[in-house]
Amino acid sequence: MILIVDFGSQYNQLIARRVREHHVYCQIEPPDLPLEKIRALNPEGIILSGGPASIYESGSPKADPGIFKLGIPVLGICYGLHFMADALGGEVIPANKREYGFAELRILKPEGIFAGVHQDSRCWMSHGDSIGRLPKGFRITATTPSTRVAAAEDPKRRFYGLQFHPEVVHTPEGKRMLGNFLFDVCRCKRSWTMKSFARDTIAEIREEVGDKKVILGLSGGVDSSVAAILLHQAISEQLTCVFVDNGVLRHGEAERVQEVFRSHYRVKLRFVRAGREFLKKLKGVEDPERKRKIIGRTFIDVFDREARKIKGAEFLAQGTLYPDLIESRSVFGGPSAVIKSHHNVGGLPKRMKLRLVEPLKHLFKDEVRLLGKELGLPEEMIWRQPFPGPGLAIRIIGEVTERRLSVLRKCDVIFLEEIRSAGLYRKLWQSFTVLLPVKSVGIMGDQRTYENILALRAVTSDDAMTADWARLPHDLLGKVSNRIINEVRGVNRVVYDISSKPPSTIEWE
Ligand code: XMP
Repeated sequence: MILIVDFGSQYNQLIARRVREHHVYCQIEPPDLPLEKIRALNPEGIILSGGPASIYESGSPKADPGIFKLGIPVLGICYGLHFMADALGGEVIPANKREYGFAELRILKPEGIFAGVHQDSRCWMSHGDSIGRLPKGFRITATTPSTRVAAAEDPKRRFYGLQFHPEVVHTPEGKRMLGNFLFDVCRCKRSWTMKSFARDTIAEIREEVGDKKVILGLSGGVDSSVAAILLHQAISEQLTCVFVDNGVLRHGEAERVQEVFRSHYRVKLRFVRAGREFLKKLKGVEDPERKRKIIGRTFIDVFDREARKIKGAEFLAQGTLYPDLIESRSVFGGPSAVIKSHHNVGGLPKRMKLRLVEPLKHLFKDEVRLLGKELGLPEEMIWRQPFPGPGLAIRIIGEVTERRLSVLRKCDVIFLEEIRSAGLYRKLWQSFTVLLPVKSVGIMGDQRTYENILALRAVTSDDAMTADWARLPHDLLGKVSNRIINEVRGVNRVVYDISSKPPSTIEWE
């Protein structure tokens, strides 16, 4: 495994992604991880990440300099290089101005981590400080027109430093450099696959849980579904999944989850029909945040009530992913440090005094999908677009009623059917419909109509932080509009949302 020391760079998750793309396991840990713990992790190599601080600032993050005495190869990136240089007796100098963007990279020594890299390459710089004097034993291995020490090495001690960022796509040969570090320097093996992960994790779950019972809140989304199957394979009958039908799910969703998990996988599943309870509480509510709170709280009530019926349960399983884990303990706090509560069960463990099992907490989303595939989960579940916890309630602007839900569900089915048959479902981050409480005049046959407006929303995105409206073909939009107006009573006008995020958001509420 490779240890990545997190000095707070916005790119540190990317470093982890790149390492794992080489099929090498890695873990991101905070800089204050004690030396004994590092020893216990037994890493084949250490990568010191970049970070926004300047090494001479008071309070700048530092790792235990003992890491340089472990005999393990170290690669310092940007701030990581500054930390290494400072700790080993070199000098870091503040720059007059920040260097940001592409730079022409000249490789002086085409060996070590530059083996096989073109002599003239490009790299992505993002730094204020640079290296003034290298520590003893180091030599310069690459330069750029404005940065003398763009890269350096002490091959005897197997220490390497890069001023630029090999992990971003703007450094075209960065992947090769990281690969050289992993395989030529650290002698890692390409052993990280979802097959090995599943095998090891199943053993760990058995060890952790023993003969105790585990409860899992199943939403039908890819994370909780994969977690459920993994746990089922580990502890079969000891696992009980609880699926709450909150009344604001899409058409056929609840049935499909039952079919897959109960009939196909034979997972013990408690199916709770609580739609009425949710809708009663949502009656008359128009404010989006109140809708969210009501749904979140009611979910916890219903789930808690159901879970109490499972006698002797000691664990609660959750499909928490790695980005949530890293962000929740980010070194600098900041806005990204808030734990996301997208599973709507955040408040549960405390209240129910259950211990948490989070078997996916070291995986990225795409790895969870690969794992799902490995475990034989149906494609449609693996590739499901994200669906918000508050469901259709935040896609009906204004009050949520049975009638409006029924109209929206029919529209949603049509839109998704057409998106799928155009082969676009996987290319879109999300595609859905929104029912507006606005009426407009239309004409059908010889009759004047006065019905609701429906908005179509389809976006492309990598992470939902930003999103662009999808350029759907006009013919497709026309077909969807025709079908909806003809087949769904209650809608006589369809519009397409052409706003991006920011400044809009993906959902309308
Ligand atoms: P926005 O609308 O903020 O959405 O651009 C970003 C992503 O988050 C989803 N979303 C939610 N998910 N509970 C959830 O579980 C919520 O309250 C919620 N609000 C938005 C949204 O679908 C998109 O993927």
